[in-house]
Amino acid sequence: MATVTTTGGPHGDNGSDTIEIRAVQQTELAAWARALSSGFMEAKGGGSLDYVTAQFEPGRALGAAHRGRFVGTYRSVDREITLPGGKALLANAVTNVTVSATHRRRGLLTAMMTRDLAAAAGRGQAIAVLIAAEYRIYGRYGFGPATGRRSYSIDALRAGNVRVPAEAEGGSIELLTMEEWGKLGPEVFELFRRNQPGAIDRRTTDWGTRTGELQYSGKEWKEPLVALYRDPAGRPAGYLTYTVKDPWTNLITQATVRVGEHIAADRAASAALWRYALSIDWIDRLEIPSIPADDPLPLLLDDPRACVDGGNSAADFMWLRVLDAPAAFSARSYAAPGRVVLQVSDKLGHVDGRFAIEASADGTGRCTAVGDDHPADVSMDASVLGTLCLSSEPAARLHAAGLLTEETPGGVSRLGTLFATDFRPWCQQSF
Ligand SMILES: CC(C)(COP(=O)(O)OP(=O)(O)OC[C@H]1O[C@@H](n2cnc3c(N)ncnc32)[C@H](O)[C@@H]1OP(=O)(O)O)[C@@H](O)C(=O)NCCC(=O)NCCS
Repeated sequence: MATVTTTGGPHGDNGSDTIEIRAVQQTELAAWARALSSGFMEAKGGGSLDYVTAQFEPGRALGAAHRGRFVGTYRSVDREITLPGGKALLANAVTNVTVSATHRRRGLLTAMMTRDLAAAAGRGQAIAVLIAAEYRIYGRYGFGPATGRRSYSIDALRAGNVRVPAEAEGGSIELLTMEEWGKLGPEVFELFRRNQPGAIDRRTTDWGTRTGELQYSGKEWKEPLVALYRDPAGRPAGYLTYTVKDPWTNLITQATVRVGEHIAADRAASAALWRYALSIDWIDRLEIPSIPADDPLPLLLDDPRACVDGGNSAADFMWLRVLDAPAAFSARSYAAPGRVVLQVSDKLGHVDGRFAIEASADGTGRCTAVGDDHPADVSMDASVLGTLCLSSEPAARLHAAGLLTEETPGGVSRLGTLFATDFRPWCQQSF
C-alpha cells in the first residue's frame, strides 16, 4: 500500500507510490476542482473551476496527490463566528473535504486535517469549524456539534395572526431588486450576526453569489423575491428572501412560499417578517428549511399547531473544535458569576489539560490553564468542549448522555449555571 507523506509543495509526481499531502498551487486548480467534484460524487468532468479559482487562497487548499492525480481535497478559510455575549472570534473554517472512493480509509483525511489544524493553531486561531456531512467523521478530531437547527412547514390558513411586538408597529416592508439587496443586505446581516451566537460572517463574494452578480458554471442561481423590513425610524432591520411555487391546479390558488433567508436584527423585525410571509395572498403553505431549533415562531401564531415539522429536521449543523481554550472561553460571556474547572482530553494535544473558568457578575469570564492542584469539576473529550463553546447543549444533558463526567459533587450544576443561555446558537449558512 502507498505511504502517506506531507510536504510543502509539488514534487513533480513521477508515478511513485507515495501519496503526498501538500498545498495546492494555483496552476493545479483545474485538477483539484475535478477531484473535488468527483469526491462529492458529481460526474462533472471539469468541476467548478471558476468557483474554486475565485475562492483560492495560497496555502489554504490542500490536496492528496497520488500518481499524478489529486485523490483528496481540503480547504480552509477564515470566518468570524459570534460567541454567546456577542464577541466574534476568527475561526479556521474547514470546507471542500473529500477523499476519492478509490483511496478511502487510508488516513488521507486524518493527514490533511491534522496538518491544517496545526497550521490554524500556529496562526493563533482559537477555534475551527465545519459543516459535517456525516455525524461520525469529525468527533475523532475534537469537533463537536455546536449549532442546532430545524425545519418548519406552516399551514398559512390555519395559523391565524402573527403576534408582533408593539415596537414593530409603524415599521414598513418593501420589495427589493437584487441590486438594492446587494447594497442593503450586508448592513442588515451585520446587525443580525452580531446578535446571533453561532452565526458566521459573509464576504463580498458570498453576497455576489446570492444576488446573482457572481454566477459560476454548474451552480444554478434562481432570483429570489426579497422583502426588506424597516423599523419605525426607517432603518433597515431585517429581510426575507423567498421563492414561490404556485401550481394553479383547477384554477385554485395553492401556492407555497419557500423561505431562503429570514435575517432579522431583533425580535420585532423577525415577527414583522413572519407576519408579512403569512399574509401574502394565494399562499397556503410556508416552508422554512432552517430555523433555530428553539425559535419562538410557533408561539407567535394564533394556532401553533399550524406549524409542523418540515421533514428536514437535522439536529446538528455547524461543528466546532477548540484549538486554544483560554482564548475561546475568555471571549464568550457567562450567565452567572462563579468558577468551574474543566479537565479535557485531546488526542491531537491542542486543548489537552485542565482549564479554570472564572466568571464575573457582569457576564465576562477568564479562562486559564491550571495544574493538577486545582481539582477538576467535570471532565470531557475535546469534542464535548467544542459543543460547550457556544452552549449548544446544557451541561446536564451532556452529563445525562454520558458525554461529560462529574469529578466533584455539584460540578455539572456549576457548569450548567455558568454556561446557561436563553437560546441555542444557530448557524444559518454553510461556507
Ligand atoms: C469522509 C471522508 C473525507 C473520509 O476520508 P478518509 O481518507 O477515508 O478518512 P481516513 O482514512 O483519514 O479516516 C480516519 C478515521 O475516520 C473514520 N471515518 C472516515 N470517514 C468516516 C465516515 N464517513 N463514517 C465513519 N467513520 C469515518 C475512519 O474509519 C478512520 O477511523 P480510525 O481513525 O478509527 O481508523 C471520505 O470518506 C469522503 O470523501 N466521503 C465523501 C464526501 C464527504 O463526506 N466529505 C466530507 C464533507 S464534510
